[in-house]
Amino acid sequence: MSKVKFYSGENVPLEMHKVRIIQKLDLVPIDRRLQAIKEAGNNTFLLKNRDIFLDMLTDSGVNAMSDQQLAAMMVADDSYAGSESFTRLENKIEEIFGMKYFLPVHQGRAAENIISKVYVTPGSYVPMNYHFTTTKAHIVLNGGTVEEYITEEGLKFNSDNPFKGNMDTAALQGLIDRVGASKIAYVRVETGTNLIGGQPHSLANLREVSGICKKNGLKLVFDASLLADNLHFIKTREDACKNKSIREITREISDLCDIIYFSARKLGCARGGGICSRTQDDYMKMRELVTLYEGFLTYGGMSVREIEAMTVGLDETMDENMINQGPQFIEFVVNELHKAGVPVITPAGGLGAHINAGAFVSHLPQTEYPAGALAAALYLVGGIRGMERGSISEQRDADGNETYANMELLRLAAPRRVFTLSQMKFVVDRIIWLYQNRELIGGLKFVEEPKMLRFFFGKLEGTTGWHEKLVAKFKADFGDSL
Ligand code: F0G
Repeated sequence: MSKVKFYSGENVPLEMHKVRIIQKLDLVPIDRRLQAIKEAGNNTFLLKNRDIFLDMLTDSGVNAMSDQQLAAMMVADDSYAGSESFTRLENKIEEIFGMKYFLPVHQGRAAENIISKVYVTPGSYVPMNYHFTTTKAHIVLNGGTVEEYITEEGLKFNSDNPFKGNMDTAALQGLIDRVGASKIAYVRVETGTNLIGGQPHSLANLREVSGICKKNGLKLVFDASLLADNLHFIKTREDACKNKSIREITREISDLCDIIYFSARKLGCARGGGICSRTQDDYMKMRELVTLYEGFLTYGGMSVREIEAMTVGLDETMDENMINQGPQFIEFVVNELHKAGVPVITPAGGLGAHINAGAFVSHLPQTEYPAGALAAALYLVGGIRGMERGSISEQRDADGNETYANMELLRLAAPRRVFTLSQMKFVVDRIIWLYQNRELIGGLKFVEEPKMLRFFFGKLEGTTGWHEKLVAKFKADFGDSL
């Protein structure tokens, strides 16, 4: 992709695949969209697909699969125990990560459940570059405390730092000095750091973290769910890695870690997950919980067809032209928005474009959930479904107080190879219109607030009648356009 130059000098991401299967889309009229977002309690998780034009909620389980993946699914070996499909996956894991022991799980959070149950004890700490929602929930459930040591740059909305996902290694050492290594369950690095805008860490930073772990006898657990994007950024942004192949970089990463787990709904464009470990000891500790919570060791709650798709998908992840499609589309959207003055996280990361909702609707206080309000407004004006990644995605503390997010973001995920560039231009166009009419967007308040993971099921309503005002302005500007 990146090696193709346009005569015009334009920087256009060029698809290195062709689309042979399509799924029809509808953009329902704005009056229906108004009804739909109200029925969903302004929570984009609760919208129905039939009301959605461009689903940018997540890349999880919705990346386009290749012809090779679909073909592999047809030759899957279905059996409760001893499936050949599993053996093929196990071999591929060893080939790519050099780790001998592999446990299958039904998705990423199942790996987190098992790892947390085995290693997190009440009163222990888990330092990490940054948390992911399900990761933190599992660690806390097992009595652990999450300590986040993202570098200062990581929490800046705009920066030219190419590796905003790096861990602050001095802070990590500080925790070890303060509480002692015995109180630390393990150190976790999340690649392609999700909640701060899909920002990568460098190989050099991981090497430093690993050095500290080794020196102090700590396990390094690596969440590889967003590895594909991070590999692209290491290859293109880290000078020392410019001449290394994706396979070589992957192997250098895995050689620094003790346990690697991933959601295969992201990594490998399938549905499932896994835990790779270097030692038989770690494998044995986790093995029983896999059979208890997931299924037998040769399927782990996954369909064997998905296992075959994962094996091929992991292999395809080692192809630069495959893994650069997501980041380049995201960069296109981010750059177009940035040029138009829309506040976005820069530099562009992986996973999706991230709008700085706090600045977009700066007239809304955090108590009125700016990122949630912006998500509802964007659905209303474009049928585009994004995901709130702000305070609604946080949990109240033990005393019932709000814990406000460091960043109020609207995430527009870019499922790999799913959308076309003209669809991305539509997204940019609608966001720019919304930005110019941002003062019409009002706040939200909860009408139903679940205790756990409230962002999934919570229902909210507008603090004022702002939805109708936005619809009226849309009709005035767009006439009878959908
Ligand atoms: N770790 C990271 C970094 C993730 O992004 C996710 C999922 C998980 C773990 C959990 O994996 O969904 O297979 O159970 N992220 C999805 C998202 C949900 O939309 O960002 P899972």
